Amino acid sequence: KDGLQVAIDGPASAGKSTVAKIVAHKFNYIYVDTGAMYRALTLAALDQRLELTNEDQLIELLRQITISFQPASAGQRVFINETEVTDEIRSEIVTNNVSTVAALPAIRRALVARQQELALAGGIVMDGRDIGTTVLPRADLKIFLVASVAQRAKWRYLENQQKGITTSLKTLQAEIAERDYKDSHRATSPLRKAPDAIEIDTTSLTIEQVCEQITRLMIQKA
Ligand code: C5P
Repeated sequence: KDGLQVAIDGPASAGKSTVAKIVAHKFNYIYVDTGAMYRALTLAALDQRLELTNEDQLIELLRQITISFQPASAGQRVFINETEVTDEIRSEIVTNNVSTVAALPAIRRALVARQQELALAGGIVMDGRDIGTTVLPRADLKIFLVASVAQRAKWRYLENQQKGITTSLKTLQAEIAERDYKDSHRATSPLRKAPDAIEIDTTSLTIEQVCEQITRLMIQKA
């Protein structure tokens, strides 16, 4: 195995993907955004107007499409078959429906198997909800990022402003709280801190500070 397996989990909008991308780049590791896989499947299901709780149909859909990633300077581009969906998978409709799809056990089994394959060689930073508990229970380093709902909504609000999305702070707070609830109360691999994960509260930290802490921990483990 060449390089560490680093798992970064935590609730929505706590900064996981931002810091995961930065530290992966720093160590020349692969970055895998597992949320993007659940999002891509959700987007495809919405496009085909499938019932999002119909596990059989969604498994069939997952067989029919190819979800792939391409590295990019700002993280990674996401494709369904040959179509780029990098921005579409971040739309509000996908964000507000993805937890329903991600709660289906057969979907999780299929995507977790892909994620484990990607991590085999090591040298990887993977972010999600169940990486430390289920996908890579033997990861070399497990980080659990948390932040207050108010702060996370504020970050999402600022991010949205740049994209021209005008959802109110109050609505964002409610949406984030709702997604956290769904993700941590589902039966199959709910969002949970692994016993051996290191928790970092990012509420009053800068991105640089969080990256520094994780970098230090990675150097210790190397
Ligand atoms: O990380 P991101 O916000 O893009 O994840 C979108 C959704 O995908 C989460 O709210 C969760 O429902 C699901 N997810 C998951 N397990 C993962 C990653 C994401 O259930 N490992």
